[in-house]
Amino acid sequence: MKVDVLLGLQWGDEGKGKVVDVLTPRYDVVARFQGGPNAGHTLEFEGEKYVLRSIPSGIFQGNKVNIIGNGVVLAPDLFMDEAKELEKSGHELKSRLHISKKAHLIMPTHRLLDAAYEAAKGKNKVGTTGKGIGPTYTDKISRNGLRVGDILDNFEEKYAAHKARHEEILRSLNYTDYDITEVERHWMEGIEYMRQFPLVDSEHEVNNLLREGKSVLCEGAQGTMLDVDFGSYPFVTSSNTICAGACTGLGLGPNKIGDVFGIIKAYCTRVGAGPFPTELFDETGAKIRAIGHEYGAVTGRERRCGWIDLVALKYAIMVNGVTKLIMMKSDVLDDFQTIKACVAYKQNGQVIDYFPYDINEGIEPVYVEMPGWNTDLTSCTSEAQFPQAFKDYIAFLEEQLETPIAIISVGPDREQTIER
Ligand code: GDP
Ligand code: IMO
Ligand code: MG
Repeated sequence: MKVDVLLGLQWGDEGKGKVVDVLTPRYDVVARFQGGPNAGHTLEFEGEKYVLRSIPSGIFQGNKVNIIGNGVVLAPDLFMDEAKELEKSGHELKSRLHISKKAHLIMPTHRLLDAAYEAAKGKNKVGTTGKGIGPTYTDKISRNGLRVGDILDNFEEKYAAHKARHEEILRSLNYTDYDITEVERHWMEGIEYMRQFPLVDSEHEVNNLLREGKSVLCEGAQGTMLDVDFGSYPFVTSSNTICAGACTGLGLGPNKIGDVFGIIKAYCTRVGAGPFPTELFDETGAKIRAIGHEYGAVTGRERRCGWIDLVALKYAIMVNGVTKLIMMKSDVLDDFQTIKACVAYKQNGQVIDYFPYDINEGIEPVYVEMPGWNTDLTSCTSEAQFPQAFKDYIAFLEEQLETPIAIISVGPDREQTIER
């Protein structure tokens, strides 16, 4: 068997959590492969709403095994809070949520370092989620990390050594006004709590499952434009959010990748700093934000809103090897006279149709305009009920992106999902 990979093609928050939940009944296992509690994946069903950060979005459908892979960075305190919430609402986790021993731990001092580095950047701040993501991956790559497997042996000593090293860096950054006594106590409680979960060699587990004929869905976090290599660097996250991240983040050979589902919104959003060529600063942008409830699931920050960017999407489809697209939040555009799609960029007076090295300065979007559908899509249950103008929008996107749109979402609920 091969795995299917589901990931965001824009700047995150495309609706990955909802779609993973919808697709989970078809798989035996759901696995996260990168990112950490910077993610906020929202699911809605049976009148309830859940936001998941570190726990995969396959946790609600039946008794499926969910895996937190080696590519993920995990904060024990936040993980414990999230898991306990789910346990309170009646979801059994301890037998079926497996954690890779090779996943790296986000320490309280990593979060301080995140804040200190942001402060030091002055007006070039990335606008991180403040969860310690960058410093934890930095420690991993520089061979200074603390892993889940470390809690099994001589942990206190290892923790103290890492903390001392972080404190020295914080002093060098003049970042000394903090007291983490309480946070640290809670964090250590999280470590004890984590011990109750199966701590596994997830690369062996996933490959054995595939050999046994089991099906696996890999859930991405963030989006391709936040990928550390191919995103809008340096305004990115610190992991590979692209499909290749599923190989390194779970221990899968590239020949084990089956379908690659690329999730897009019918428009585009971004939270945090950095370039966003199709951003709308006018009342149209404000209208998309209001109708789409575009506020961050983790930080509550306003999401920046704009039209769909086909130049960036073509690039994202290329670097991920996307086989099928999934379009979310189509209903948010129900009430617009005209819809725009960016088909090229103008840079230094020249029109280009490819995603360039640098989109930080001087990019002007070239738009195609289409009539809006001015119809409520939220109660549509089949493609046949779609208004013609919406069908035209779908056909236009498929033609431009040379990839089929397999699923269309017309509302936040599990049920508001149409397969084609
Ligand atoms: P993720 O990080 O990719 O999982 O996405 P988020 O959960 O951060 O953001 C997506 C938001 O859109 C959530 O509030 C979802 O409940 C909501 N959502 C998902 N699909 C749809 C849709 O088709 N229509 C509408 N109106 N909202 C949606
Ligand atoms: P999901 O999985 C949207 C953004 C932050 C910031 C940059 C770096 O819900 O789609 P970090 O804390 O990762 O060092 O921040 O990345 N960012 C996200 N934006 N959705 C996310 O996750 C994000 N995770 C990080 O806003 O600009
Ligand atoms: Mg999100």
